[in-house]
Amino acid sequence: MAHSITGANAVEIASSVEAGVRDGAIRAGAQLPTVRALAERLRVSPTTVAAAYRNLRLRGLVVAAGRRGSAISHHPPIGAHPAQVVPANARDLASGNPDPKLLPAIGPSLRAIDTAHVFYGDGLCEPELMRGARKAFAADGIPAESLTVVSGALDGIERVLTAWLRPGDRVAVEDPGFPAVFHLLSALGMTAVPVGVDDAGPLPGELEKALARGVHGLVLTTRAQNPFGSALDERRARELRALLRVHPGVLLIEDDHGGAVAGAPACTVAGATERWAVARSVSKALGPDLRLALVAGDAATVARVEGRQSLGIRWVSHILQRTAAGLLASRAVAKQLRAAERTYTERRRALIGELERRGIPAFGRSGMNVWVPVSDEDAVAAALAAAGWAVSTGARFRIKSPPALRITTSTLDSAEAAEVAEALARALRPAGRSLSA
Ligand SMILES: Cc1ncc(COP(=O)(O)O)c(C=O)c1O
Repeated sequence: MAHSITGANAVEIASSVEAGVRDGAIRAGAQLPTVRALAERLRVSPTTVAAAYRNLRLRGLVVAAGRRGSAISHHPPIGAHPAQVVPANARDLASGNPDPKLLPAIGPSLRAIDTAHVFYGDGLCEPELMRGARKAFAADGIPAESLTVVSGALDGIERVLTAWLRPGDRVAVEDPGFPAVFHLLSALGMTAVPVGVDDAGPLPGELEKALARGVHGLVLTTRAQNPFGSALDERRARELRALLRVHPGVLLIEDDHGGAVAGAPACTVAGATERWAVARSVSKALGPDLRLALVAGDAATVARVEGRQSLGIRWVSHILQRTAAGLLASRAVAKQLRAAERTYTERRRALIGELERRGIPAFGRSGMNVWVPVSDEDAVAAALAAAGWAVSTGARFRIKSPPALRITTSTLDSAEAAEVAEALARALRPAGRSLSA
């Protein structure tokens, strides 16, 4: 290891590793020396090094690396992680963002809001936003007697996780799944337990096994699953509900980040366990920078989330809440969102259709991405990049699931879909036959 770890006690050793990660001397994913080897080199006892590693593990900087010991996490929670760089001459089909042209303008709603000041001790949530959300949740069969506002789906997931779970707890996640959830669990010292998915969501057999082995929580993307595109249907929801009812103590968190433009109707298993929450974000429908999501849940969960939030950020700015409420109450915006959802669906299907025509299976029942299994994701992504298409390799979305590419279709028109599919087919053809899954 280029960076020489130093320290005479556990705190100093842990700080030295952290400093190495911070200044780039220790790379993400790098193997750490074994406890014994480092103890010998630093002339400290193995328990001192083990204590330092444990501290780093609980904070998500270090992960267990099987028999090889410990390694730096692939996404240590130190500093801001820059987004994947898309070369200037390539079309960005990697970032997973919504199409800026399909987001409603925020200006009119922002200019129309009541700008009266809100003070300490005033309510956390904006009544108009709550009224609309309660109605929308109820229409989707989600019991929303208890409801609050957080800063995005991911913030909601973190708040609900920390309301009930502790470092060391095991949480079932979809595989492939949303990398930020994997990294969040790691940063909280929790362990992600992978559950495979198909078009309808988590595979019941795999979830059953995970539950039987013991998990404390489940993060479930009900629609617009990222990256696979799964969306729960009634049949799968019934199966999952039946499995969860046998484990009523499991914390269930539904991630509805796609909301109004998810491309599939809302379907829920909320209420199958005693502790549950649904985080419905406005990021994809109204724009990620509103940083706003509504959380419905059981009374105890919502009370814990609000209680803890009150001790930190206190509340989500009412300026944002009123802006979102105005947008969500507008008939014109509702119409725009229905059109946006249709466009995302057409774009996703266009690519899947073009790939199918070339004999390449791909997945994307809902959402803004298409998942294409390939056996050498780096080689195929590189070939596509050379053809001017920047896509994401599947690696960061996978725990145990096989290699694939994630292609974001949010801005991809039908002519481009044919070009991407052709470039992909070329990358998989004769010389590249071994690249095909
Ligand atoms: C599955 C999933 N969950 C959550 C999020 C983040 O949502 P938010 O912006 O509301 O935190 C994303 C963002 O792309 C996502 O793909």
